[in-house]
Amino acid sequence: MRIPVSALVLAVAVWPAGCGFHPPLPETVPRPSEVLNFGTLYQQNCSACHGRDGSDGPAIDLANPEYEALIDDATLRKWIAVGMPETQMPAFAQSNGGMLTDAQVNAIVAGMRRAWSRPNAFSGAVPPPYAQTTGGDAQRGAKTYQERCAICHANSRQQIASPAYLALVGDQSLRSFIIAGSPDIGQPDWHHDSQDGNAAAPLSAQEVNNVIAYLASQRSAAANVSGNSPSPAAVDK
Ligand code: HEC
Ligand code: HEC
Repeated sequence: MRIPVSALVLAVAVWPAGCGFHPPLPETVPRPSEVLNFGTLYQQNCSACHGRDGSDGPAIDLANPEYEALIDDATLRKWIAVGMPETQMPAFAQSNGGMLTDAQVNAIVAGMRRAWSRPNAFSGAVPPPYAQTTGGDAQRGAKTYQERCAICHANSRQQIASPAYLALVGDQSLRSFIIAGSPDIGQPDWHHDSQDGNAAAPLSAQEVNNVIAYLASQRSAAANVSGNSPSPAAVDK
């Protein structure tokens, strides 16, 4: 019988502290670097921030099929391996100071796809691209923000246009929230952004760029924290 790693962690945790020796590892327990089970890897490394089943955590809803459809494998692997600079998303690959082997990073990417991807996640609609390719206009973005975001965000729990919030969040992550939405917190995607039934037009790619430029200007107005938009060329493998 295989003893789940979680049981081992618990056994180690309850072992009397300070008694000077460690319990021998039962031979049936795989070494941490040999674990390739997605559920185990996800629980141990991701669930605290992204939620137990990919939703309802403090960080973005990874179980959202639209998010899964928006991001490609190489980019997903890159964020997990090297982290997102200047944000709270850590680097997990051993080559970047993390604990996971390349095989484990690949197992997480494959497991996320199996668990959370859905065919035709956008119901035939074409979203703006995941990565920003052209610049945005902050002034136009301010107007779009007033018209399309402030209806919910003028008094929302999270003051998303405040420098304090923006200092912690990179541009790419703002983009992901705006395009794919985050169903676990009620953030709509780019084309269901009007909940009032008056069928507002979907946000265009340019409008998304402009809103990001506006939010980035609010961030840098207070502190000079740069965004973390990846250059597509920086995506490895
Ligand atoms: C300490 C908290 C924390 C942990 C642990 C963590 N993440 Fe994250 N993750 C974040 C935050 C915060 C962001 C958004 C970064 C930002 O604000 O720009 C993020 C972003 C991401 C993104 C990119 C989102 C986007 O916009 O495209 C992916 C993918 C991701 N995390 C996957 C994972 C996976 C898989 C794991 C486990 C191997 C993991 N994360 C563990 C906090 C965490
Ligand atoms: C239909 C209402 C609604 C609209 C429209 C809306 N949002 Fe949100 N958004 C929410 C809710 C609800 C949350 C959850 C947090 C909260 O309550 O403040 C949220 C959260 C977010 C977050 C993530 C906060 C976090 O947890 O890190 C971002 C970023 C965001 N919204 C950006 C936008 C932008 C930019 C627009 C305009 C393009 C927009 N939202 C339009 C309802 C909305």
